[in-house]
Amino acid sequence: MVTVYAACALLCFAPLLVVSDPPVLTQPEQVHLSYPGVPGSMVVTWTTFNRTDSLVEYSPWGDILFHKSAKGSVTPFVDSGNEKRKMFIHRVTLSDLKPGSHYVYHCGSDMGWSDMFWFRPIDETIIQPAFALYGDLGNENPQSLARLQKETQLGILDAILHIGTVGIISQDNARVGDEFMRQIQSIAAYVPYMTCPGNHESAYNFSNYRNRFSMPGRTESLWYSWNIGPIHIISLSTEVYFYLEFGQELLFRQYDWLKQDLEEANRPENRAARPWIITMGHRPMYCSDDDQDDCTTFDSFVGGPDRCFPSPGVDVELWAHEHTYERLWPVYGDKVFNGSVAEPYTNPKAPVHIITGSAGCKEKTDRFNPNPKDWSAFRSTDYGYTHMQVVNHTHLYLGQVSDDQAGKTIDSIWIIKDKHGYDAWF
Ligand SMILES: *[C@@H]1O[C@H](CO)[C@@H](O)[C@H](O)[C@H]1NC(C)=O
Ligand SMILES: *[C@@H]1O[C@H](CO)[C@@H](O)[C@H](O)[C@H]1NC(C)=O
Ligand SMILES: *[C@@H]1O[C@H](CO)[C@@H](O)[C@H](O)[C@H]1NC(C)=O
Ligand SMILES: *[C@@H]1O[C@H](CO)[C@@H](O)[C@H](O)[C@H]1NC(C)=O
Repeated sequence: MVTVYAACALLCFAPLLVVSDPPVLTQPEQVHLSYPGVPGSMVVTWTTFNRTDSLVEYSPWGDILFHKSAKGSVTPFVDSGNEKRKMFIHRVTLSDLKPGSHYVYHCGSDMGWSDMFWFRPIDETIIQPAFALYGDLGNENPQSLARLQKETQLGILDAILHIGTVGIISQDNARVGDEFMRQIQSIAAYVPYMTCPGNHESAYNFSNYRNRFSMPGRTESLWYSWNIGPIHIISLSTEVYFYLEFGQELLFRQYDWLKQDLEEANRPENRAARPWIITMGHRPMYCSDDDQDDCTTFDSFVGGPDRCFPSPGVDVELWAHEHTYERLWPVYGDKVFNGSVAEPYTNPKAPVHIITGSAGCKEKTDRFNPNPKDWSAFRSTDYGYTHMQVVNHTHLYLGQVSDDQAGKTIDSIWIIKDKHGYDAWF
């Protein structure tokens, strides 16, 4: 009785709380970070379901909390499903972040603030950048998520590369997209979450993907490049080759852009500062799954003979889409170019390809074709993801973490290059 009376008294004193709209529509959610390519800056992106201001309050860890504040912009986005669900995507760019320190932040407006998160800025002082990378993480069966949450919060990752198929983002009038973005907040609010489009994002011309992510460049996150420490990373859309109905010109625009970007990245002064060039794209050039998809029925559409993407001077090519892990011997034009048979990855004469699409999604994992080609070096159907770290100008580490085997590294290599660039192949 006493409690009922007390509750009643509370209601009487605070009638507005009871009659107003549920505060959830102005509550920030789906918070995620991305690196816009300018050293010492970071973009915070989030969603509300009513229009609000777009503010980030932040401060270096240990300082007076939230003594800095940055304002951004809000873009309404209407999903094209039959409910035409409307949401507001907020973007705020933080700049002049000091190297080497942590920042704490929250985002939102006076109508609702997010939880408090932290991150480390990206700048030229990151000399040994460490990544987790994977594709095909869904919001059902996200096997690797817990391990990624812990690694992110331990602070051992500088960025995450999500190589396409970011949930089934437009399903159920984009509610699945909302749910997925909420789920990855536990990692993506702490480290830049860098993406490329995959086939599952294709609905309505990739509109959910283009609107919800904030990658560098001016292609609405479809293709772009960025630098981190000694690496130049190029993110591509393999989907321009599959969804021609959304515009064949996209395919040519990306191809021309890529050629120019590679030329620039390969200029001696740029290559001296950033010797490693790494590409990522959703559907692989080579793969040996038995999923009746492009690897079994064609000799991967994206270009066994490296026809869709020029790759002069590229060191490593990262792919997903196949729900498995596969490491290849150095390969170009369908032929293996080992450094030597004893040490294939020491001064390899072609790019090294990794396919890592087994993070965990509704479609489970794929089976392998029992007779792979010569380029296939190691395969696993365990759920998991890949670690990558550039240690210095000559050494790059890649390791596959198995979620099925309690986080064990089931495959690892060092790529060792005394020389980078196209010339290193001869
Ligand atoms: C908030 O959104 C709801 C649902 O779209 C709408 O009915 C309501 O008018 C909005 N309120 C404000 C203050 O914009
Ligand atoms: C699809 O989206 C891209 C990127 O915004 C745009 O360039 C292209 O024209 C769109 N295609 C169609 C058919 O609307
Ligand atoms: C490349 O190196 C691996 C590992 O030593 C070896 O098994 C394979 O046969 C080599 N391929 C070629 C074409 O030399
Ligand atoms: C680069 O890192 C590797 C692996 O840790 C090490 O063996 C090598 O000596 C380093 N090279 C330089 C120039 O520091």
